[in-house]
Amino acid sequence: MESFTKADKRTHYCGTLNSANIGERVTVTGWCQRQRDLGSLIFIDLRDRTGIVQLAFDDATDREIFDKAFGIRAEFVLSASGVVRSRGEAAINKNIPTGEIEVYVDALKILTTAQTPPFAIVEKSDVKPELRLKHRYLDLRRPDLQKNIIARSEIVKITRNYFADNGFIDIETPCLIKPTPEGARDYLVPSRVHPGKFYALPQSPQLYKQLLMYSGFDRYIQIARCFRDEDLRADRQPEFTQIDLEMSFADEEDIIAMNEGYMKKLFEDFMHQPLEIPFKRMTYKEAMDRFGSDKPDTRFGMELCDISDLVKNSEFSVFKSAVEMGGSVRGITVPGGAAMTRKEIDSLTEFVKTYGAKGLAWYKNTAGAPTSSFAKFMTEDEISAILAKMGVAEGDLALIVAAKNGVVYDSLGALRCEVAKRLNMIDKSKFNFLWVTEFPLLEYSEEDDRFYAKHHPFTMPMEEDLPLLETDPGAVRARAYDCVLNGTELGGGSIRIHTTEMQTKMFEALGIGAEEAEEKFGFLLEAFKYGVPPHGGLAFGLDRVVTLLLGLEDIREVIAFPKVQNASELLSKCPAVADPAALAELGIAVVATEEE
Ligand code: AMO
Repeated sequence: MESFTKADKRTHYCGTLNSANIGERVTVTGWCQRQRDLGSLIFIDLRDRTGIVQLAFDDATDREIFDKAFGIRAEFVLSASGVVRSRGEAAINKNIPTGEIEVYVDALKILTTAQTPPFAIVEKSDVKPELRLKHRYLDLRRPDLQKNIIARSEIVKITRNYFADNGFIDIETPCLIKPTPEGARDYLVPSRVHPGKFYALPQSPQLYKQLLMYSGFDRYIQIARCFRDEDLRADRQPEFTQIDLEMSFADEEDIIAMNEGYMKKLFEDFMHQPLEIPFKRMTYKEAMDRFGSDKPDTRFGMELCDISDLVKNSEFSVFKSAVEMGGSVRGITVPGGAAMTRKEIDSLTEFVKTYGAKGLAWYKNTAGAPTSSFAKFMTEDEISAILAKMGVAEGDLALIVAAKNGVVYDSLGALRCEVAKRLNMIDKSKFNFLWVTEFPLLEYSEEDDRFYAKHHPFTMPMEEDLPLLETDPGAVRARAYDCVLNGTELGGGSIRIHTTEMQTKMFEALGIGAEEAEEKFGFLLEAFKYGVPPHGGLAFGLDRVVTLLLGLEDIREVIAFPKVQNASELLSKCPAVADPAALAELGIAVVATEEE
């Protein structure tokens, strides 16, 4: 190990050198990507965050330096100085930007040595995710991951600039807050000063950004860390980041236009491609009916078709009884799908079962010899009517689910995406943005026998549905909107309630009594007394924005230190057992769990 002195400081990043630097004496620093010893010649590829440059040593190199270069292994940290020279025709590597030059080294320091890493630091890695995450600092040396993290930083910069240019004020809201009873589970933080009492980490800055509107800041933005104790998926992490904003004296048109402007700016400055605005809009009802999802992927067809009317009087009891029980029978038509094997259809049946469907009815319209799981229970007329309504041409496959509406939507909504993926029907170059509007205000939970707010309890109901709040709460639509991109919910928001009267009505609809409302949201109700502007806002999931713009599928690829499926972090190994003394001070006793 040699000391790091002034002379060892970098003059250039490795990846920035090119033939324009020929003849210059430079100093580069970084990690040894690989060392090649060709006897009288040694080459070292030196890597930093900008790329790789070749260091060259030969017979004429000082013996001590040559010997040092000889002992260098992958991931040693080096500082090398020398003159940039042309590589010569035969050695030119057109694949890398620095491929025409090399640094002919006349001073070299090994700043630190390294053990052989558990996996190679290369662009595309098929190393097991667990191993990558355990050594995330090494994983993050890989150029593709570095590119993602740097892209994220670029996107944040564009975001801050756009909103600052539009008069938004960046304000930090607290991370230790009052536990909220709605939404996902809170992460709780015990208080030492108030034993037995807890803070929660924010699921979003929702209430505080509303309060900031009451205070007159008018336009607020925060790149905010949020915490939700919920089951993880490829697009969900327990801690994630929102681009969170709120606007006063604004309605949904203002908020939508402001955010379309933002996306357009991101496309221009980051993607270097135009983006057409305004985005298409679709009501929640239309999205569910046509796509079985409130975040439809509109890059491909296979829309849902309701055939309940055609089958409700048939002899096929599965179809008939679904309609009788208040559910429906719907299907999708897979173009060219008749070529699918029974095995493939069976695996789709298993797929829909994970969404609660009991089975999947199918009809293969194969030339001359159609086969089907249900045709034998139906008349020829019924079959022709179904095929005509669903548009099942020769060579196509009809896939049908009969169940409660919720199950039909969920299973077919997911099935159309799954089939599109399996059959390669998705044009990956498309960015189909969509606003989904008119969400239901409330969602009924059979389990708890009560309504919950679909977005959150501060969302304004649609004016024309107000009379229904007492008579038919489930039918009330909200002034809420989601921004959907290619089947992913990128962001969501709403116009907020800004009067005590309306907020009280909302709490009543949610079965939150006056006393409970006072205890949980008293501060908000109190604030309503002192002049609240009409306001609304929205939050994008930053991790999802970056993931989709980079064409990736897993948000872990754009988060420096993500958590795994079971919410643990493999690098530092957390969560971890707490120090008994700390627990005692907090007044907390841990009940031993099975895992331990
Ligand atoms: P919502 O709950 O819809 O709204 O969240 C907004 C956006 O945050 C992202 N998101 C997530 N990203 C990664 N992992 C998660 N676990 C996760 N959960 C949510 C999504 C989502 O669209 N306060 C409101 C916003 C508002 O009304 O202004 C809110 O939090 O991209």
